[in-house]
Amino acid sequence: MPFFFIQLADPQLGMFSFFSGLTEEEIEERRQRGINARKAPKVITGFDDETRLFSQAIEAANRLRPAFVVVCGDMTHEPEDEDQVGEVKRIAGLLDRGIPLYWVAGNHDAGNTPTPETLARYRERYGVDNYSFDHGGSHFVVLNSCVAFDAADVPDEWDALVKFLQEDLQSARDSGCEDIIVFMHHPLFLDHRDEEDGYFVIPKERRSVILEILKAQGVSAVFAGHLHRNVYASDGELQIIATAAVGYPLGDDPSGLRVVRMYGDAIQHDYYGFDEVPESVEL
Ligand SMILES: [Fe+2]
Repeated sequence: MPFFFIQLADPQLGMFSFFSGLTEEEIEERRQRGINARKAPKVITGFDDETRLFSQAIEAANRLRPAFVVVCGDMTHEPEDEDQVGEVKRIAGLLDRGIPLYWVAGNHDAGNTPTPETLARYRERYGVDNYSFDHGGSHFVVLNSCVAFDAADVPDEWDALVKFLQEDLQSARDSGCEDIIVFMHHPLFLDHRDEEDGYFVIPKERRSVILEILKAQGVSAVFAGHLHRNVYASDGELQIIATAAVGYPLGDDPSGLRVVRMYGDAIQHDYYGFDEVPESVEL
């Protein structure tokens, strides 16, 4: 039976406020790193913009009735800010109880260089960070890509992630699943598998390890976020999709959501700005 799910990325409560306070120099410094910050007409405080946008995402899900909703990381801008965390959870709690919601760890949640402490805080708030679930004959895997981005302070966590991924995908294949999809925050790459390391992608050293496992098990697609704009890449049959943000946009794509239709032998997906979300999803 075909079904669809909704992928969200980077609601990042507090980012409009943080970016509204940047000086021209700070904006220019970010532009040079490929981060398209904009000068705000006035300094914003709080997270009213993100409350509105994340609420629109949850309202759209309640109307469209997906099989599940996945939030691909960076739930808040400041992981220390309990008000931001409380608000993101309050809004997530408005999702109809019949629709499961799955969290994915982002760098603003678990750290650019995760430590035992930041990982413990993440797990206390959002639950386990590497896990999997099944729906409609397909298998879905959630990975904490922050550990893959920088494992310097948590080498054992990287080893555990690789072991989990290998064993989980093997048992999914052994059980005869139709399709395997992976969710993570950082894209593996943006253009090709051998591209240079950088802030936006998993470094080659660990990218190649993950890619080898995904390709050996015939994974169809990796859905990510982190870019705050839509980017599409592939390596053979494997699709890499970085989805634009629920929250602050860093490119031309408006704040929005992605609808992913699963047909067993094919996947189709479309990104919609919140003003363009359809009334219903046809399969
Ligand atoms: Fe991010």
